[in-house]
Amino acid sequence: MISFAVYRLLHFIGIVIVFLALGGSILHVVNGGTKETNRWRKPVAALHGISLFVILLGGFGMMARMGIVHGMLPGWIWAKLVIWLLLGAAIALPYRVPQSVKPLALLVPLLGSLAAYFGIFKPF
Ligand code: HEM
Repeated sequence: MISFAVYRLLHFIGIVIVFLALGGSILHVVNGGTKETNRWRKPVAALHGISLFVILLGGFGMMARMGIVHGMLPGWIWAKLVIWLLLGAAIALPYRVPQSVKPLALLVPLLGSLAAYFGIFKPF
């Protein structure tokens, strides 16, 4: 049986990698890069998708070990799921809306910090 600690580690590994992928894409677009000129677009997109999945795996795994039943999730989990969705959308946005890239450079780490806050303090 996979332990809480292992799910927690998976959660963190996914988090570290998702921010690497988002940061890389943001920097590329800030420097005038496009989808076509990004030589690492596919590996970065794959890394982004896989790491989001690993975050979810770790998150739901921890929930199972904490005895949180699916279907009646606490508010902080819903908030984290919304952040997870936003971080999912954030990989495509710089290419589609290049003006979004500077606000995103601020918003992405803010969203990550907020998700960490929800996980640690569980305010609701
Ligand atoms: C990318 C967004 C996310 C970030 C940055 C993030 C970050 C964190 C951090 C820093 C912790 C604290 C770990 C600890 O001290 O034990 C945590 C805990 C947790 N997270 Fe996330 N998380 C994210 C998304 C999610 C999602 C989508 C779920 C649900 C599916 C989730 C479920 C949990 C659970 C169950 C805990 C354990 C809380 C506890 O130890 O009491 N997280 N998360």
